[in-house]
Amino acid sequence: MSRLAEKSIILGVTGGIAAYKTCDLTRQLIQAGACVRVVMTRAATSFVAPLTFQALSGNPVHLDLLDTEEESAMGHISLARWADLVLIAPATADFIAKLRLGLAGELLGAICLAAEVPIVLAPAMNRAMWSNPATQENVASLSARGVRLLGPADGAQACGESGLGRMMEPTDLCRAVEEFFADKTLDGHSVLVSAGPTREPIDPVRYLTNRSSGKMGYALAQAAINAGAKVTLVSGPVFLAPPKEATLVNVETAADMFEVVTGLAPQHDIYIGTAAVADYTPAAVAEGKIKKHHEALDIRLTRTRDILAAVARLPKKPFTVGFAAETDHLESYAREKLERKGLDMVAANRVGQSQGGFDSDENALWVVWPGGELQLPMASKQQIATQLIELISDNYRAKNST
Ligand code: C5P
Repeated sequence: MSRLAEKSIILGVTGGIAAYKTCDLTRQLIQAGACVRVVMTRAATSFVAPLTFQALSGNPVHLDLLDTEEESAMGHISLARWADLVLIAPATADFIAKLRLGLAGELLGAICLAAEVPIVLAPAMNRAMWSNPATQENVASLSARGVRLLGPADGAQACGESGLGRMMEPTDLCRAVEEFFADKTLDGHSVLVSAGPTREPIDPVRYLTNRSSGKMGYALAQAAINAGAKVTLVSGPVFLAPPKEATLVNVETAADMFEVVTGLAPQHDIYIGTAAVADYTPAAVAEGKIKKHHEALDIRLTRTRDILAAVARLPKKPFTVGFAAETDHLESYAREKLERKGLDMVAANRVGQSQGGFDSDENALWVVWPGGELQLPMASKQQIATQLIELISDNYRAKNST
């Protein structure tokens, strides 16, 4: 059953062009089982007619603070009490500024001020409006007060420019809201995640690396945060925005990652090693750029140290989860790795295929642990991450209760 089943959501719509996408978001929230009441600002009604939201949500749309009929039926206080969550999508720069000041001149502002439930914003505006210090200060102040932000996303904008400021896509918003209601199984616990590739320098301008995008590790960090954990993310070079609530430590080489992870691991309850750590590194880094004087070039490589095995050998070892990227014999290699490295769990994925694995948005995992195994069928990396975090927290609790 969806986590949104029977959840009461106030969907606030403010006056931005992205409001047309909120129609689809309404439909998706309803399909997931949520009860949705749409509250529109006056400006929002210039973009989408209230009747559209009424038809999609199956409920009358709330517009005016001082509508006496409305006030007696379901006014701003009753609406605020009815909701399990207030989601504002799109949230314009103007609305965000008003929210920061606590202005309650319109119904939606009054509801937010009266709300004792979480408020989530999906900002949408021109990229310069988003990066303007005024908006950034407003957002920082709201975040410090516990208001959650989903997005904005990067890409083409309705105004013809391109950059950070697009509203997140309805499917991603719906999923993120669903995860908001996830059981907080890791509340009070700390999780260390390593993600992405490493870069092994050959000379000052060249390096060896691999195809890891970091998507799986970043999704796991977010899923652990959603489950209530305090997360430290040790990341190789990737092109992804880290989860806002994670403590990020950037590293480049396998040796850097070794030092950082083995240093931090004893202070964490769980370590998840998703990073595609280089197995070999150049024995020596040339001081100057290597010139192409010869027909062939030999680079001597030496083995890197295994971070995961080192963490599993620590006297104060966290619950240790490894990843295995294999082209064949998935299950037997995964179980062999579990035993050889002394791990608590191994999540194996098949690589070298068209779907799943490196750089893909989807993945399927074969998860093994001492005495059990589970197959997680192909799904988005976010969904797989949520399922894997549930499995990790179940096994972590089982291990610590014995
Ligand atoms: O042995 P193999 O490289 O296949 O194991 C993969 C797992 O080991 C991943 O979890 C990866 O993060 C970890 N690993 C590591 N240090 C290395 C190589 C791999 O932690 N030097």
